[in-house]
Amino acid sequence: MRIHDTITGLRATLKSAGRIAFVPTMGNLHEGHIALMRQAQAHGDAVVSSLFVNRLQFGPKEDFDTYPRTFEADCEKMAAVGVAHLFAPDEKEMYPTPQAYHVQPDPAQADILEGEFRPGFFRGVATVVLKLFSIVQPQAALFGKKDYQQLMILRNMVREFALPIEIVPGETVRAADGLALSSRNGYLSEAERAEAPRLYRALDGVRRAIQAGECDLARLERQAMAELRAHGWSPQYVAVRKQLDLQLPAAHDSGLVVLGAALLGSTRLIDSLEV
Ligand code: PAF
Repeated sequence: MRIHDTITGLRATLKSAGRIAFVPTMGNLHEGHIALMRQAQAHGDAVVSSLFVNRLQFGPKEDFDTYPRTFEADCEKMAAVGVAHLFAPDEKEMYPTPQAYHVQPDPAQADILEGEFRPGFFRGVATVVLKLFSIVQPQAALFGKKDYQQLMILRNMVREFALPIEIVPGETVRAADGLALSSRNGYLSEAERAEAPRLYRALDGVRRAIQAGECDLARLERQAMAELRAHGWSPQYVAVRKQLDLQLPAAHDSGLVVLGAALLGSTRLIDSLEV
């Protein structure tokens, strides 16, 4: 695997790389990232990944400074799964001057759910991903369904800007007890880790109830939030939405997704399950 830390160096090399399948990351890789990189092999001649902890998508009170940085271990994992090129710029390379132009996603899609609790998050994500797309110029890019809203917003960004990139979703990878793999799981204490799969179970309960014909979605959402609260969580939302645009479903709509975010101690976990 070749590691590039400059835009010009990467671009020069990628000219002869053929069709590129791109997996952007912020590092601290787990099996969810690795699965995306494995899946990417089928979408291009060369798999290119990036590792950049993007300051723009962190709020002032969020964990930018403490976000786990595990460069050596990440490189080993990427090389082992067949990533051909890693773009790992420092902040000066990505943002030589403070980024003054931003991608502002539609507030109807970006200011709800995650966006309500993480103002500016999707603006930061869309801005860095558009910039990475411009640098790497991939034909396909892969994003996990765990970050369901991010996947939707990036898919819409690509469509609205007519970027010639296929957005490929990856299934959420889970631990044996159901917990969705996430870089932030490492923040959990032993006791919190044992409790953490409850978020998955709560969302799964909502999913099963809908599949069994329950129509009162608001009641299911309230029940799931109450269950989490009863076990010491601070839930931020549990919401049943349409998969396509994450808007409220009408009665008898199909193609739904259950999404949730909750704090367990000081760790914020999110998850989602398609119905
Ligand atoms: O999902 C992530 O890891 C990040 O939001 C992304 C897409 C790499 C942008 O920084």
